[in-house]
Amino acid sequence: MRITVFGTGYVGLVTGACLADVGHEVLCMDVDEARINRLEAGEIPIFEPGLERLVKANVESGRLQFTTDPTDAVAFGVLQFIAVGTPPDEDGSADLRHVLAVASTIGEQMYDYKVVVNKSTVPVGTADRVREAIAGRVAARGVEVEFDVCSNPEFLKEGSAIDDFAHGPRIVVGTDSERVRGLMQECYAPYIRLQEKLMFMDVRAAELTKYAANAMLATKISFMNEIANLAERLGADVEQVRRGIGSDPRIGYQFIYPGCGYGGSCFPKDLRALAHTAEQLDYSAELLKAVEAVNQRQKQGMFTKLRQAFDGKLEGKVIALWGLAFKPNTDDMRDAPSRDLMEALWAAGARVQAYDPEAMKECRRLYGERDDLVLVADRIQAVKGADALAVCTEWKEFRTVDFAWLKQQLALPVVVDGRNLFEPALMQQAGLLYYAVGRGDSL
Ligand code: UGA
Repeated sequence: MRITVFGTGYVGLVTGACLADVGHEVLCMDVDEARINRLEAGEIPIFEPGLERLVKANVESGRLQFTTDPTDAVAFGVLQFIAVGTPPDEDGSADLRHVLAVASTIGEQMYDYKVVVNKSTVPVGTADRVREAIAGRVAARGVEVEFDVCSNPEFLKEGSAIDDFAHGPRIVVGTDSERVRGLMQECYAPYIRLQEKLMFMDVRAAELTKYAANAMLATKISFMNEIANLAERLGADVEQVRRGIGSDPRIGYQFIYPGCGYGGSCFPKDLRALAHTAEQLDYSAELLKAVEAVNQRQKQGMFTKLRQAFDGKLEGKVIALWGLAFKPNTDDMRDAPSRDLMEALWAAGARVQAYDPEAMKECRRLYGERDDLVLVADRIQAVKGADALAVCTEWKEFRTVDFAWLKQQLALPVVVDGRNLFEPALMQQAGLLYYAVGRGDSL
């Protein structure tokens, strides 16, 4: 099957490479010429495990190609995936400029039947706007060409995107057309036992499913963070509570890890966009607003603990920071809790000595050179000469530590852990003052 993918960002590139890998012929289009040149040379602009190998192999086999030419792109596939960014507008709503620009391009260049597949995360009703944009351009050309628009939201997690694409629990397609159903079945046939995983539904239901899924997951996290904060004040261990409630299959073990707040390019943006949609409909989405508010407070939690540990005197202190990315296996720092912590520390006059296995370049890009930020080559150097240690990301390499050694390194042996990596009893034995999330150790 011939497939065009608009957008070579995270979602577009993973989608294109995975579909090519199962035998489809895929042409990825991007307006960014430098990016396309790099991709053609096998350079992957993002860090995602397995993606580089997948792109290279499929470029070599000729099944994955890249272009900046819109005419070629529209002519190529019967399926035209839109996987461009929907950054938040100032008011929190999703900015559809790029999505509608692709729709216009398709409308201008289309000569035969196409299915336009919305993969970008877009507000409910966007498929109608895409349809109107295409129809407007087609009508302006005075031609008649048939097309359909469907919604096929993605549920990939950064860090495990390729595995999620192949083994995700469901593939959602919103359409009212039999023809589209057939073509989307053909597209995903190599991946799935169709009856089990491919879910057809109305277009609006599919669009809302994407937001509802992310809002539900974010709600689980904020709920658990709230319980953790209570546990801290009650002298209970939230880790035991987590196991206690997760064992009930109605609750489940996934996404109930308390921490320093959720970040990334999806949850914060999507929660705000859904709350904004609600407001436009004169509906006040109380739960969504609370989920966001709890998360904002949670992201300040590590700073509050450090400030208390130093009796409010953070000026001139050096804080070692392990982990900058919003989660392991990515270099993404969008809305990362590490940023809230660093910015609060800097405002209080402290210096940060940071290490992350992948996100150092991104950190430099975001903050540039500054006296109060030293980026070091490994986790050992990060704690050298530091007053305290803060852990923001649960990279595997941070889990094994010689606690006695750590105590010797830190002037005030304080460890503030936003990811609950260590056993409080062992830390205490080593003489460290350990403040995790909800482990009965309120400061
Ligand atoms: C999320 C969803 O999990 C995907 O299903 C969805 O496709 C994607 O957004 C998207 O909309 O594109 P992602 O943002 O890559 O994926 O990362 P997650 O693994 O969901 O983690 C999000 C944040 O929640 C991280 O900061 C993580 O540390 C935090 N988290 C996660 C917790 O604090 N506790 C948990 O139990 C789980």
